[in-house]
Amino acid sequence: MSIFAKIYDLMMYRLEKLSLASRREELLKLATGRILEVGSGTGANLDKLKKDADITLTDPDSMMLKLLEKKMSGLGINGKAKRAAAENLPFPDNSFDTVVSTLVLCSVNDLEKSISEIKRVLVPGGKLLFVEHVRDKNLRAWFQDKFCPVWSWFAGGCRLNSRTMEALKDSDFIIIKAEHFNPAETIWLINSWPVHFFLPFIHGFAINTKGAIK
Ligand SMILES: C[S@@+](CC[C@H](N)C(=O)[O-])C[C@H]1O[C@@H](n2cnc3c(N)ncnc32)[C@H](O)[C@@H]1O
Repeated sequence: MSIFAKIYDLMMYRLEKLSLASRREELLKLATGRILEVGSGTGANLDKLKKDADITLTDPDSMMLKLLEKKMSGLGINGKAKRAAAENLPFPDNSFDTVVSTLVLCSVNDLEKSISEIKRVLVPGGKLLFVEHVRDKNLRAWFQDKFCPVWSWFAGGCRLNSRTMEALKDSDFIIIKAEHFNPAETIWLINSWPVHFFLPFIHGFAINTKGAIK
């Protein structure tokens, strides 16, 4: 593992402790029915789910899938893990009641295609639960745009200027809750402008309105 990957992991570990873990916990309480998680990574959401949850985990990285399977069996969760990218989900239409996406829509190659796939596999009225890294506004967004290529290299493909909320609004999702937060807001230096331009996050959920009469 390179020194940059170690620094990134350490930073994510701190952010997890500071606030991401509690945001995940709050969000996962809303997961009901048949649940699909896209880009599950190492399974940071797994211990926030009920043991009898009907969960299908996906990630395009086969190493992650091995970790996920191990973690699921360790936690006694009887879910499935499948190799898949969010842009091409190998499930029939209307297969899930809830889709979970945490820190993923900033990493996908095609944001619009991923959202369209999520919408397709969700039932009408189904929920998308998200904690995502998003593009901010004004000068901070300008910094994000400039710094994005370097960050992306450092952070394994994460784009810190993803226009996720705009893309959701342009699709058939109604955003019910979207709370902006900075996971390091308790650290004065990081919270001070403009240092935290890489930290605007959003946490919330949206409802799939496909098929609804408008
Ligand atoms: C920052 S990690 C987040 C992992 C996990 N969701 C979490 O909350 O800790 C980003 C994950 O997205 C996955 N990923 C990358 N490209 C993807 C794509 N096109 N579709 C779905 N997942 C993708 C990566 O393999 C990685 O596991």
